[in-house]
Amino acid sequence: MSRTFYIETFGCQMNAHDSEKVVGTLLQEGYTQVIDEADASLILYNTCSIRDKAEQKVFHRLDVYKRLQGEGKRFAVIGCVAQQEGTKIFDRAPHVTLVAGSSSYRNLPQMLDRLEAGEKRITGLDDRDTDETFDTEFTARNNPHRGYITIIEGCDKFCAYCVVPYTRGKERSRTSASVLAEAQRIAQMGYTEIQLLGQNVNSYVDPSGKRNFADLLSAVGEVPGIQRVRFTTSHPRQFTKDIVDAIAERPVLCDHIHLPVQSGSSNVLKAMQREYTREWYLERIAWIQAAKRDISITTDIIVGFPGETDKDFEDTITLLDAAKYDSVFGFKYSPRPNTPAIHMHDAIPEEVKVERLAILNARQREIQREHYARHMDELVEVMVESNTLNPRGQFTGRSSQNKTVNFTMEPGIEPPPMGSYLDVRIDKIFPSSLAGFAASRPKAASPALLAQQALNARFTSAAG
Ligand code: 5AD
Ligand code: SF4
Repeated sequence: MSRTFYIETFGCQMNAHDSEKVVGTLLQEGYTQVIDEADASLILYNTCSIRDKAEQKVFHRLDVYKRLQGEGKRFAVIGCVAQQEGTKIFDRAPHVTLVAGSSSYRNLPQMLDRLEAGEKRITGLDDRDTDETFDTEFTARNNPHRGYITIIEGCDKFCAYCVVPYTRGKERSRTSASVLAEAQRIAQMGYTEIQLLGQNVNSYVDPSGKRNFADLLSAVGEVPGIQRVRFTTSHPRQFTKDIVDAIAERPVLCDHIHLPVQSGSSNVLKAMQREYTREWYLERIAWIQAAKRDISITTDIIVGFPGETDKDFEDTITLLDAAKYDSVFGFKYSPRPNTPAIHMHDAIPEEVKVERLAILNARQREIQREHYARHMDELVEVMVESNTLNPRGQFTGRSSQNKTVNFTMEPGIEPPPMGSYLDVRIDKIFPSSLAGFAASRPKAASPALLAQQALNARFTSAAG
């Protein structure tokens, strides 16, 4: 079992993609990936600390790992909890050998050398001030149909509730040339969909000064073979109209914008240090709604931020009506270490948070039920994401707007290949999905992509 590793990943897409880069680096260093912890000499745990439940999961998993300790295994805790808790992890879980935050991943080969030399306590925690990004050409691509590209790392916004600026370090962008070179490599592998990633993608500043974010988006869309370009996450503060214009002009850019608002109350936004008001945000929503393409809008909302009054919460509910979101990720505020909000007065009781979240979700469900009706009878292009029939006899795909589309095909026709595209005529509307029947034959996925899918299917272990 020498030089084998097992990796488990929690958290956001940035983390999932970081793991792809870590896996690629380990493979390059001569390690072999295994699907069973029992077969691994090195167990890595890529952690998330955005909300408290995620953190509890880490410590629970570390306790589970302890049982494997006797077998001579090494343990590494990486990602946001690693950065946040630092060497305290060694105290709480002495069987851990390596603790590293994401800003240190580019030093992973050296850390692995030290691990192999038998060092017991290795840390990568002091790189958050770096200007460098973790670029590697060895990225392992675990998502079978979506190629991720990090364009900007870190965050300089310091919203009052958020750990990210402390765990992922300062904002730093990659050159547009290196992003485009990676897009080309991905396209050559057979991927047709690319997702540009960053904590704030639209804060992107090309170090070579050649392209702004909207230009980069358009340039990625021009890479031969690419049919869908997505990006996440956007911050309203630097969200400019040229992004909407680029999407309106170019069908290759997916008609979906995730624009976290966090609260509909300008008072709460101020306390959150979001640096915009409700009106400023709604102006950006108006740009999107006025575009000649129907662009779906999704958001993140935190309920129960310290000091949030009934009136503030009401402002969030009325904002839902104005923005007509296609999906909302609602969260109860959770106090995080190191953040200014942890010291704020007027904490909201848990039962009020629970109630507000339930009201938010119920109202949003009604909005989606009404708003999704616009897709009735539409011909929607989907990319096939599951070609085994679900219990209702349907296959599953995703529209350019990122909506789940379940569809049937005429009996006797071969299941469509994963990653292929086909048109679906929508005949049923649900609050968070659409259903219909295939109205075209699948446009075949590339053989290179199919081979990649078969290879990766064995290792998919990303957890929520
Ligand atoms: N409590 C609750 N939700 C949070 N988020 C970030 N930090 C916190 C926190 N401390 C949410 C925000 C962000 C999303 C990724 O997670 O809505 O946009
Ligand atoms: Fe956190 Fe705010 Fe940065 Fe988003 S913009 S990662 S919410 S600090």
